[in-house]
Amino acid sequence: MTDERIYPMRLQRFLARAGVASRRGSENLMTAGRVCVNGVVVSELGSKVDPLVDVVTVDGRQVSLADGHIYLVLNKPRGYVSTMSDPHGRPCVKKLVPTTRYPGLFPVGRLDIDTTGLLLFTTNGDAAQRMLHPSMHVWKRYAALVRGVPTAAQIERLRTGVRLDDGRAQPAEAEVLKAGDPRALPVAPEGIPHAHSVVSLRIHEGKKHQVKRMLKAIGHEVVRLHRDTFGPIELGDVALGCWREVTADERKAIEDLVGNRPTRTEDS
Ligand code: URA
Repeated sequence: MTDERIYPMRLQRFLARAGVASRRGSENLMTAGRVCVNGVVVSELGSKVDPLVDVVTVDGRQVSLADGHIYLVLNKPRGYVSTMSDPHGRPCVKKLVPTTRYPGLFPVGRLDIDTTGLLLFTTNGDAAQRMLHPSMHVWKRYAALVRGVPTAAQIERLRTGVRLDDGRAQPAEAEVLKAGDPRALPVAPEGIPHAHSVVSLRIHEGKKHQVKRMLKAIGHEVVRLHRDTFGPIELGDVALGCWREVTADERKAIEDLVGNRPTRTEDS
């Protein structure tokens, strides 16, 4: 993936990041002559702006980047630790995201080294802290390829709150996926192997190895694990090892989620 400095940036990207429209929609606004930079209409699509210096208007109204913070969605492959450096020299997710273009990026929480899927990155420490705080109840959905086929009673234990060695897990949404369910594909691309099944689990806690431990507690070892949602964000069709910026709607959803509410402590 190529890397470049954040500023100057392409005008259509600036408009999209500011939440004016999608990248394509922003291009349409430009070619329609509705966008001005420093009072001059700019319709050429390759034009660049420096958000720190230039004044951008759309239909005469000034547009600015919400808070300058970046949110990226990475489809994490297996074999990468979810940190920006590793004392043991293992491959880090840092290699997979544009840290030169966006200095200060870091992952919001962690996935195990062998887990694939949605890892959100941001430069916004406060938002990350809020999203990870237990009181926020940010839901995450996983697909887990497990040995054996859980019974209805076992699935019910996940739904009511299975007991783990460090306390009871909060009730989860759980179901065994049918063969062909698209949610099963990331962990069973060639079909579900004999004597295995795929469980979809939606939880709002983030204890270490939580999904693996919950499924082990009902007697089913996890063979592969993939996350496809994190709060309001869905992974979408990002290829393994690649990233995308969040859309304007997703950014708004994150901002609505973390809002200006103070982070409550566990016992408040
Ligand atoms: N639960 C796990 O067990 N592993 C992960 O990577 C994420 C959730």
